[in-house]
Amino acid sequence: MKHWIALPRIEGVASRQAHADLPEGTFERELGKEGFFGPATHMYHTHPPTGWIAWDGPLRPRAFDLNKLPNKLSGTAEGPWKAAEILHNQALRYRFWRTEGAMPALARNADGDELLFLHEGQGALYCDYGHLAIRDGDYIVLPRGTMWRTEFDGPAAALLIEATNDSYRLPDKGLVGPHAIFDPAMLDAPAIDDAFRAQQTPQGKVEEWRVEIKRRNLVSTVTYPFNPLDAVGWHGNLAPVRVNIRDIRPLMSHRYHLPPSAHTTFLAGRFVVCSFVPRPFETDPGALKVPFFHNNDDFDEVIFYHRGDFFSRDNIDRGMVTFHPAGFTHGPHPKALQGMLKPRKAETDEYAVMVDARDALEVGDRAAETENAAYVDSWRGSESPKAAE
Ligand SMILES: [Fe+2]
Repeated sequence: MKHWIALPRIEGVASRQAHADLPEGTFERELGKEGFFGPATHMYHTHPPTGWIAWDGPLRPRAFDLNKLPNKLSGTAEGPWKAAEILHNQALRYRFWRTEGAMPALARNADGDELLFLHEGQGALYCDYGHLAIRDGDYIVLPRGTMWRTEFDGPAAALLIEATNDSYRLPDKGLVGPHAIFDPAMLDAPAIDDAFRAQQTPQGKVEEWRVEIKRRNLVSTVTYPFNPLDAVGWHGNLAPVRVNIRDIRPLMSHRYHLPPSAHTTFLAGRFVVCSFVPRPFETDPGALKVPFFHNNDDFDEVIFYHRGDFFSRDNIDRGMVTFHPAGFTHGPHPKALQGMLKPRKAETDEYAVMVDARDALEVGDRAAETENAAYVDSWRGSESPKAAE
């Protein structure tokens, strides 16, 4: 148990309620520990904290347009171990996978649980546990060691988020109880059904199946004379699970802009996965309607934009990733900041997947070729809105 130095104190001109009733003409910044769960201070500034005019050195906000990743094997299937590595650290691998049709081999990740977020495409997942129909917006947790393959009806694209040497869990939903956000009964598991049995090798027939096993991030191939997805049944409390991002019912308050942690969907030991989904804007006249400026000082933040209009970002489109390492303050872009107190519409319509990592992330080789180098300058013009208007 951590015994924080608890010192709630008000100094100078300040609001007494975070994210509401800001002193006239000010911009609020949250300085916080432990990813919105630790000690924090809200500071009221006369300039937007993103109003920099120059930036030098290796630390900077980054943006990657994954739509630019060439689909080198267009028209053919490509296994997940050829996915482009975008970001990684010792606890996490964050990759973007484009494929089409049926995978040429089974995959098995011996390095950790895999979370697959299907950005585009629909089809079938076959794994040790059976068959599951899958579609865009699905989160699929594949426990470490599961043998699996996909058969998509056409092209598909997915984020692959590996919890290296770790397991995915559901967050503690605290005051709102276990059925909020999504009910655990919404989790689907694969079934031993006719489609699953139809892909099994008939007794007496020989057909070659390969399993590409990833361990220590190196791939080994094991070949069988039959399809090893040959189970006739199973029982237990370990299985892949699926929930679709459309089935998430977000927490919100009409009087208080909730922090991203309210939108936690899955977590592992050293990172969290949060889902931003459509919700009404706050209606209290004094409440902030856009994310507050903040430095989430203990975490590197990554957001993948799946669908919709990303209300806090300018010039960010579906299929893009923003990466905000710890160490600087970020917040709404200038156009979004205009709606700080008066939103332009009644509700957000964005779908996005956020990963907040406790350890510093490295940028992968394949991310560099997609980078928008001008992203660091995208907050230019932050000075224009007046908070009191
Ligand atoms: Fe953030």
